[in-house]
Amino acid sequence: MRLRGKTALITGAAGGIGSAVALCFAEEGATLVLSDIDLDGCQTVCREIREHDGKAWAAGADVISEEEIVDLFAAIRKTEGRLDILVNIAGGDLDPFSGADSISSEAIDRNLSLNLRSCMLSCREAVKIMQPRKYGRIVNMSSLVYRGAEQQFSYAAAKGGIASFTRSLALSLGQSNITVNALAPALVDVPVFRKALGSERWEALSRECASRYPLKRVARPIDVAKAALFLASDDASFITGQILEISGGARL
Ligand SMILES: NC(=O)c1ccc[n+]([C@@H]2O[C@H](COP(=O)([O-])OP(=O)(O)OC[C@H]3O[C@@H](n4cnc5c(N)ncnc54)[C@H](O)[C@@H]3O)[C@@H](O)[C@H]2O)c1
Repeated sequence: MRLRGKTALITGAAGGIGSAVALCFAEEGATLVLSDIDLDGCQTVCREIREHDGKAWAAGADVISEEEIVDLFAAIRKTEGRLDILVNIAGGDLDPFSGADSISSEAIDRNLSLNLRSCMLSCREAVKIMQPRKYGRIVNMSSLVYRGAEQQFSYAAAKGGIASFTRSLALSLGQSNITVNALAPALVDVPVFRKALGSERWEALSRECASRYPLKRVARPIDVAKAALFLASDDASFITGQILEISGGARL
């Protein structure tokens, strides 16, 4: 069990990737704090973990709110007294398919708040708990679009911001034995896409993307979860400041 004795917070834990990470970490013995704006969804994942003798509790928090982030970490400090691992997964593209001539300030603010600002503030709060104990593993969620993506201007900029923030944090936290890395997945097959696009459009999109990836399929949530597990475990204790592309070789 690679995470036995460790306490981990996962944000976005009710989602497709977040719930896969939660289940994977639970199997490896971590005590989990699962957070999401969707508290019911977190509770469902918690129940599944407990049915398999894992340890998990749920805490609702909207990561757009600084106050709710601060309260979330205060609750962890009070209940667990420690935090070894933070996986910042909450996010998503709130302004897909906009044209270069119609980028709006509202959309920029929404995507930067949800994806970048939330990650930066959560890391700040985590560091306050991790630094005195001289131990921490932070895994942030970027995306392959950090390299740039047509029609995803503010989302790609936010995910690019996460990549540079991750490297900056890694530089300053190494001396405290805190590693900071980011995941950059290509397209992942998650329920939210099927729901938003409908089965037919989703199948067409995923087939088209898969045909461009050398491994000829899109990612599954478990592919991302296994990479998060590696970076959160002591197997990766000498790896920091890295952006790990989980892309089936896309954009090589
Ligand atoms: N699915 C992909 O293809 C893909 C690829 C690269 C990166 N990502 C990133 O992975 C992460 C997870 O995405 P997913 O594919 O599992 O989608 P998802 O929609 O299933 O998961 C996102 C989760 O974040 C939560 N969330 C949204 N707004 C929130 C808020 N304000 N406060 C707290 N929680 C909030 C949602 O409730 C949801 O549970 C996101 O950061 C996304 O940008 C996804």
